[in-house]
Amino acid sequence: MRRWVSFLLVLVIGLGLVTWVGSLLVHRTTSAWFEKDLSLRAALAVRGAAHQALVFHWSKDQAQELQRLLAEITHDERIMAAAACTSELKPLARTKDFPDQIDCQALGLNVRPAADNPASSWTSWKGVETLPGGRVHVSAIPVIDGDRALGFVVLVQDLSFVERREAKMRQYLLFAFGFLALAASAVTIIAARLSWRGWMSELRTFLRGGAPRPEFQPILRDVRELVDRIVGERESDREGGAWTPQRLKQTLNRYLHGERVVVLANRKPYIHEKSGNGGEIAVHHPASGLVTALEPVMRACSGTWIAHGSGSADRERSDRLGRIRVPPGEESYLIRRVWLTQEEEKGYYYGFSNEGLWPLCHTVHARPVFRSEDWKQYKAVNQKFAEVLCQEVEQEDPIVLVQDYHFALAPQLIRERLPRATVIMFWHIPCPNSQQFGICPWRKELLEGMLGASILGFHTQFDCNNFIDSVDRFLESRIDREQNAVVQHGRNTLVRPYPISLEWPARWAKNAPPVEQCRAKVFRELNLEPDTLLGVGVDRLDYTKGVEERLLAVERLLERFPVFRGRFAFAQLAAPSRTAIERYRQLNQTIERVAARINERFGQGNYRPVILLRSHHEPPTVFRYYRAADLCYVSSLHDGMNLVAKEFVAAREDERGVLVLSQFTGAARELTEALIVNPYDLDEASSALAAALGMSIDEQCDRMRAMRAFVAEFNVYRWAGRMLVDAARLRNRERLTGRLRDHVSVAAGSP
Ligand code: F6P
Repeated sequence: MRRWVSFLLVLVIGLGLVTWVGSLLVHRTTSAWFEKDLSLRAALAVRGAAHQALVFHWSKDQAQELQRLLAEITHDERIMAAAACTSELKPLARTKDFPDQIDCQALGLNVRPAADNPASSWTSWKGVETLPGGRVHVSAIPVIDGDRALGFVVLVQDLSFVERREAKMRQYLLFAFGFLALAASAVTIIAARLSWRGWMSELRTFLRGGAPRPEFQPILRDVRELVDRIVGERESDREGGAWTPQRLKQTLNRYLHGERVVVLANRKPYIHEKSGNGGEIAVHHPASGLVTALEPVMRACSGTWIAHGSGSADRERSDRLGRIRVPPGEESYLIRRVWLTQEEEKGYYYGFSNEGLWPLCHTVHARPVFRSEDWKQYKAVNQKFAEVLCQEVEQEDPIVLVQDYHFALAPQLIRERLPRATVIMFWHIPCPNSQQFGICPWRKELLEGMLGASILGFHTQFDCNNFIDSVDRFLESRIDREQNAVVQHGRNTLVRPYPISLEWPARWAKNAPPVEQCRAKVFRELNLEPDTLLGVGVDRLDYTKGVEERLLAVERLLERFPVFRGRFAFAQLAAPSRTAIERYRQLNQTIERVAARINERFGQGNYRPVILLRSHHEPPTVFRYYRAADLCYVSSLHDGMNLVAKEFVAAREDERGVLVLSQFTGAARELTEALIVNPYDLDEASSALAAALGMSIDEQCDRMRAMRAFVAEFNVYRWAGRMLVDAARLRNRERLTGRLRDHVSVAAGSP
């Protein structure tokens, strides 16, 4: 009904507009026509048959005869009155009803342009006058005898008939336009209905599996996408609840038909190392955010994890191809170890990845070093891993999760070998802005390599924007800002934020002893007085983690708040990392020096304010320290996410303990109940440490409860689930597009 009312409204307004414009045109045109017609009539009346008689009587000054002639002229039904004016512009003769308002003097100036002008320069004049009785047409026509101008005749013609005719024409016009508009609307409606019906029935036929029409393709794609999205949203609503390993497994089954996932990462969750002189082999869990996050996902999804076989006993504990089933005792997925030569490891891992890309991506004022020899190895190792991956996959369109900056080229290399693979790349570290990215001599190759991925994930939208800006600046490609995608060579790469997280509940927290026991054990190990307030820091020894700034903040705390001297101790668990790189060796020495200085300044008897535990610690130890502590300080100078912050929260089931967190971590955007600080600002950081140590139990609980609720909901299963669901949609869409393309080429008869 509403549609019809709107239709009629539009019709009436349209008609009104057309009529208004039409009548304006009619008025202008007909007025011009009629006026021209009247002027012609007047000229004919004076210069026609009566002309000779006029000249004759005029030259003899026979006014009465002239009056008779004028009266004859007015026998024409439209000529109302006539007058004769002399060449001196005086009235000579006039009919009875000639209007007084029209006088010879005024008109004569138009006919006779200047006094004493020759007869040849006299011209006719015409105009419209408004008299009390209505509008009239006035013509003044000169009467010439040879080369002598006798004067002029004025004819007054009725114009009312013009108005009558115009009104009639307007009526006809309105009627004609109205009729035409109604007829055109009716024809359009009928035609639209007929073609809509035909179109709908063809669309339905196609959706039921019939042959497609090429023009349907865009709309079909949209319809499919919409259905896809609605179904996806409905399904996840229906599933609802928390993300768990079971839900992730179900998601994989539902959306990806249980397909196996293949992970490509430099680091792996189980490293076999020979330890001690006896050469016993121990399994190590590396200190790596990537491993912490991804391992539970692989437990849930199963599949293959391809990584560098870096452990000294890895070969001994793998089969001929470098494979081993893990986790030990509850084998659910496979690790495929890739062997690298020393030269490859030096160039790819230490050189290009960690002396080049690592400082490039972190704003910590460390200068990136780019060597062409390292780049060569980086390319070769990416190639090597891509080849191993192709050996490991069982189908043409596997789901591949490429991890981190070590493998920027891998997505493209995999795409070349497996064009139908769904490649998800996740970048675990910050993404630099385009200016910084431009420093790298091989920026284009890196960006192109990454764009081989179907989905490119970063921790934050900010990182996504930086990546898109770099693509915009350095590559020939189209940026689809609405979809957050890059289109290159006809392929789409979705660029999305997927903030990484932890398994929930955290396995290591679940298996850890109660908080009191942890605290007692740690206090014993560190030889602390029972009333000591304990702070912890847990990191790989990396200059991006701000460990030096952290110790300086502890020093500042003791300077500014003497009450904590002798009472506060800070235990730093520092796992040596990348020690083959000079910058990391320097960091080791600096940390040692700073810790020694603080201990010297504020230590007393057995009391040491800084306890530096410089070695690799297995997760159970790390979780024991988290649970024993009163506060945990994460002071990264720049960090993609920082899972230590989330681990501390996960470890504290007792809802105690305070997290002091650097504003330069991705985690600071999520764990807003932490005490957020600028780690460079030692006054601010030391005040936050003091506030944390003096915080009431109630406030600690409130803050910790809120952070635990957040990490519980936004856990790593959700992280992986969202990426896999997005990948599944993309995969579906690509399959459908492929099917449509096949249909269209078959219909068009192309090979
Ligand atoms: O989480 C960031 C990260 O750089 C990972 O990519 C890496 O595995 C981890 O830290 C530890 O670094 P590495 O593997 O060099 O010891």
